[in-house]
Amino acid sequence: MKALVLAGGSGTRLRPLTHSSAKQLVPVANKPVLFYGLEAIAEAGITEVGLIVNPRAREIREAVGDGSRFGVEVTYLVQEAPLGLAHAVLVARDYLGEDDFVMYLGDNFVVGGIRDLVTAFRAERPDASLLLTEVPDPTAFGVAELDAEGRVVTLEEKPARPRSDLALVGVYLFTPAVHEAVAALKPSARGELEITDALQWLVDRGRTVRSTRITGYWKDTGDAEAMLEVNRQVLESLRPRVEGSVDAASELRGPVVVEDGATVVRSRLEGPLIVGAGTAVRDSRLGPYTSIGPDCVLADTSLAYSIVLNGARIEGTGPLEGCLIGRHATVAPAAPAPHRLILGDHSEVRIRS
Ligand code: DAU
Repeated sequence: MKALVLAGGSGTRLRPLTHSSAKQLVPVANKPVLFYGLEAIAEAGITEVGLIVNPRAREIREAVGDGSRFGVEVTYLVQEAPLGLAHAVLVARDYLGEDDFVMYLGDNFVVGGIRDLVTAFRAERPDASLLLTEVPDPTAFGVAELDAEGRVVTLEEKPARPRSDLALVGVYLFTPAVHEAVAALKPSARGELEITDALQWLVDRGRTVRSTRITGYWKDTGDAEAMLEVNRQVLESLRPRVEGSVDAASELRGPVVVEDGATVVRSRLEGPLIVGAGTAVRDSRLGPYTSIGPDCVLADTSLAYSIVLNGARIEGTGPLEGCLIGRHATVAPAAPAPHRLILGDHSEVRIRS
């Protein structure tokens, strides 16, 4: 069995962290979301990974390399234009050959991995197997309608009036039967070859399409609250590790990771918390449930339930909570009003009037 991981796409940037970076590299607990997918694939015993990228995907190639650090062998498959998920299957046709495969969308995060799903698929070999999860707004997803026996009846891509609240999660398992379906597709109203339509094609022809419901699912929708929540969930299982330096005047409580080259001075760190490599912390209270990326500076501040990306500076502020701070952003104390703000597009700031 192979894996087809989709990390192409139009490069349309999501808000607020992905204006300047691929959405598959958004960090969850200081690790790009795409890496969790590759780890889950390796953990399921799959070693051959076709990685769909767009022609300008330098950032993704640099981050993933040949895949050996994940225990997989990555073959890059260039998709010239983002013509849809099923189009990516077409691009990968030769690579996939006659193998079964798991298709994994690189911006999806499935808590608990996919090992059991892959094992069940290998044992039963339905034509296709998909994952469903209840979501509050199904209009942003592919939506499945099941009959009373739980069989998939209809699948619709981003319907204006969803027939259920069951969204398609971006992990699909296929036998080569899908290639026939994909070859028969026409572009959808949004101009893409939809994998949802390929699944419907299989259902309509009486092929077996299994579904499994899961909880613990996240996708980068640009929604800060959801991102903070998935970060919290992943930090729950953080194992403490101190590789940087922590002075005697600092106190660590709960699972705290201080990565290599980070320095902690006169501070109180409450886990779960990660302080990224090369980050300098002084006179601060950090955590719980906080991920701080590499090469940041945090001084005279207090920060909890937050995500801070690489190179950010936070100095001399009052207590901060529930924040999402982008790369190389600066948060500094304000002089008495008027305040001065320099914000990127789609930023959000809340200040006392
Ligand atoms: O995330 C789950 C949803 O993913 C499903 O519920 C939908 O049924 C499915 O169509 C898909 O919808 P999105 O509109 O959210 O897909 P998106 O365009 O964000 O692409 C998902 C991933 O696939 C992302 O990592 C980019 C990559 N991609 C996307 C397209 C359209 C490619 O590699 N090539 C493409 O042509």
